[in-house]
Amino acid sequence: MTNKYMYFIANWKMFGDLRTLNTLDSVINFSKLKRKNKFKIIYCPPNTLIRPLSKRLMKTRLDVGAQNCHENENYGAFTGHVNSKMLKNAGAKYIILGHSENRQSGETDKLINLKIKSAIKAGLKIIFCIGETLKEKKNKKTNRVLAKQIDNGLRSIKNMSNIIIAYEPVWSIGTGLIPKSEDLLKSVLFIKNRFGNKPPKILYGGSVNNNNITQLKDINLIDGFLVGGASQSSKKFIDIIRKTFN
Ligand code: PGA
Repeated sequence: MTNKYMYFIANWKMFGDLRTLNTLDSVINFSKLKRKNKFKIIYCPPNTLIRPLSKRLMKTRLDVGAQNCHENENYGAFTGHVNSKMLKNAGAKYIILGHSENRQSGETDKLINLKIKSAIKAGLKIIFCIGETLKEKKNKKTNRVLAKQIDNGLRSIKNMSNIIIAYEPVWSIGTGLIPKSEDLLKSVLFIKNRFGNKPPKILYGGSVNNNNITQLKDINLIDGFLVGGASQSSKKFIDIIRKTFN
């Protein structure tokens, strides 16, 4: 039973429509019942659902986040894009940045750094994703990769108070695989130590589900979970939260 403040972040990726929002009633009710447990639930739906979801979650313990943004903090001629200011205006309080699915389609540390800065300016809280690929892990480069992603992604950002780190090994996202507890602990410790005596919150993400949560929750350096696939089922998501506190 943990007494820690825990984050549960639902990354819906490119899934969900207006009807899907009805499925969240059970999560809202669940969060009301669990007043004694300290946690924050953040839903990150596709941009099309940010506004309706933020309306629906008003006066609840749940918050809304976005999944990415354009790096330009001002309006501009960027067809098909939205910036952090627009997302904030639509109701987002958080934003996922640096997700490996976006890194894989070309986002560099430098671009992610610009996005983070623009999101800070817009007043969003950032969920900054980092993690190694399978090849990097096999070549024992995990720490080197994490250090590079942290140092370059957060370059010249001094105030870390609105930044949460999500450690997501690329090879564990959507695969059903999770790291061995000892490896996960080592990586989380490495990330924490990179920040000296004021470390940010560190979450784990990658194939978190209502079965492996019993193993993951025992790593007490972890401040919560970024959940992809399993967060599309309110039942599974509730189960993940419940089991974290059992
Ligand atoms: P997954 O996704 O839980 O489906 O592995 C996690 C993520 O991509 O954030």
